[in-house]
Amino acid sequence: MTVDLKSLVRDIPDFPKPGIIFRDIAPLLLSPEALHVATEAMAAPFENESVDLVAAVEARGFLFAAPLAMRLGAGVVPIRKPGKLPFETHAHSYDLEYGSDELHIHIDGVLPGQRVIVADDLLATGGTMQACCKLLEKCQAEIVACSFLIHLSDLQGEKRLAPHRVESVLVY
Ligand code: PRP
Ligand code: ADE
Repeated sequence: MTVDLKSLVRDIPDFPKPGIIFRDIAPLLLSPEALHVATEAMAAPFENESVDLVAAVEARGFLFAAPLAMRLGAGVVPIRKPGKLPFETHAHSYDLEYGSDELHIHIDGVLPGQRVIVADDLLATGGTMQACCKLLEKCQAEIVACSFLIHLSDLQGEKRLAPHRVESVLVY
């Protein structure tokens, strides 16, 4: 199937703040073919890996984590913004390209030693994914990799995630 994924990512200048070029995946999500190709491309580096869980980062990460988990024969563990998870949680605060936030995971979301891929739509500064990795470390997970559809390489977010493995499909 030939689908030009980049042509389905729309650039919105100055959203949500002046100076930010927002990479809008909404057109890509509208296309069943593009969703299929994007999921397959995210799964490809892990074909020969044993993976127990895909951690899903609220909110846009949810869109890719569940299909990726199904593709890899893994379960899903949600990582959510404050006030959303009903059971006891681990928490971590982090900085965004345009603000700051806090993320939570259920304390029993991952068993010690379970092999986890963390999935999100986009890597910018790496603050969100770094917070996810901290949460997974608190759960004593084995982090297989951080997986993204889009990597904004100018921001060098991968440096913040070192030594974790970073995989991405579209690099800007
Ligand atoms: C976006 C995106 C990533 C994060 C990347 O989420 O989906 O999770 O920013 O930025 P970073 O690498 O600088 O941390 P956002 O916080 O806008 O929330 P949303 O998914 O709920 O739209
Ligand atoms: N999340 C953080 N930075 C972003 C950007 N430039 N476009 C879309 N989502 C983002």
